[in-house]
Amino acid sequence: LKQLLEKHLKAGGGVEIAGLRDKLPDSHGLKGRTPLEVMAACSHGKGASCSHRKISLIGSGTSWHVSLLAEYLIEHIARIPVEVQYASEFRYRQPLLQPGDILIVVSNSGETTDAVESLRKVRRSPNGESVLIIAVVNEVESTLARESDVAINVSAGSEVGVASTKGFSAASMIFALLAAALGQETGTFVAAEQGVFLDHIKAIPDKVQTVLDRESKSLKREGTADKPLEIGECALWDIACQNALAQNVIFLGRGFNFPIALEGAMKCKELAYIHAEGYPAAEMKHGPIALIDQFMPVVVICPKADTGYEKIKANIEEVKARSGAVIAITEETNTELQAPLCEHVIYVPETHEYLMPLLCVIPLQLLGYMMGVLRGNEVDNPRGLIKSVSTK
Ligand code: AGP
Repeated sequence: LKQLLEKHLKAGGGVEIAGLRDKLPDSHGLKGRTPLEVMAACSHGKGASCSHRKISLIGSGTSWHVSLLAEYLIEHIARIPVEVQYASEFRYRQPLLQPGDILIVVSNSGETTDAVESLRKVRRSPNGESVLIIAVVNEVESTLARESDVAINVSAGSEVGVASTKGFSAASMIFALLAAALGQETGTFVAAEQGVFLDHIKAIPDKVQTVLDRESKSLKREGTADKPLEIGECALWDIACQNALAQNVIFLGRGFNFPIALEGAMKCKELAYIHAEGYPAAEMKHGPIALIDQFMPVVVICPKADTGYEKIKANIEEVKARSGAVIAITEETNTELQAPLCEHVIYVPETHEYLMPLLCVIPLQLLGYMMGVLRGNEVDNPRGLIKSVSTK
């Protein structure tokens, strides 16, 4: 994962699929430019025959969560209107796409039928030819890559496990870089700010490795699979042991970390077969709070870098008041969340607020995996799931 993320940094964000840029229609005036340049130029109306102003992002499952994170990143950094939809819904709606809009289809496999049919629907629509369609995929030889105007390969390599993990991280990195490039074009991301942000991005691969080294000891069990880890060997394993029999888990996060709460809940469902829900933290008060009691573990993504930190801390106090067991994720420098406020604290290195999702998602993926292992599940091949939902 570290090497992959470093590769993206070296490539300037987005490894292009050879030859695909030549497919760009001449009307866009963007032939021969890299995907990032195409997007940036289109968003600015520069070098393009149209002034792109709205970006629609679609995906399914984990790819929808990546799309949601992309919305936060692009909206904050580049100040371009973005809307995110499930491909399965978008496909049957009547999308209001104008000439010059951009459709970004996110799909690890590049074959998910709802995503492919959505792309085709836009192509066939009255403004279809003047909408720029970009695929963000992990498979070079896929239908979405072939049928889009421009394809960005997240280059995560084949995922052995059915549940997506490194594909999520790689695509998130692409969108962080893309948002920065777009922000430069729109002039909303001033040079100094961008410099700091890019320095933070460069440090992400090592920080991801730090989280993996600290918390993934059970992944190193090859050949010793029969030897269970001891309680206390790593924080996540303790947490997994104590919660593997839970029937429900709630995941909370605000802003950039809301998509991570959704993704954490998804990994919990897919790998551990435990019912889990992800919510924006403040939405807890609008319903889910009724579920909280001593049997409800609540995972709260709560980095101090988050502008909503104090509000999330207040949410934690509300969970505590109802005897819920809080598992917090925060920076290693933050000492405010220890017991008795939270049962467990998972620590990650410090980084820029916008990039916290890239670090916080790792322990959540591992937690789902560990609880799945403890429950005797086939974690690489969860029941009922297939890698790509490519049925009509
Ligand atoms: C991921 O863990 C899931 N198995 C699933 O939600 C997946 O993300 C979804 O089916 C979309 O697949 P795609 O990215 O290949 O289009």
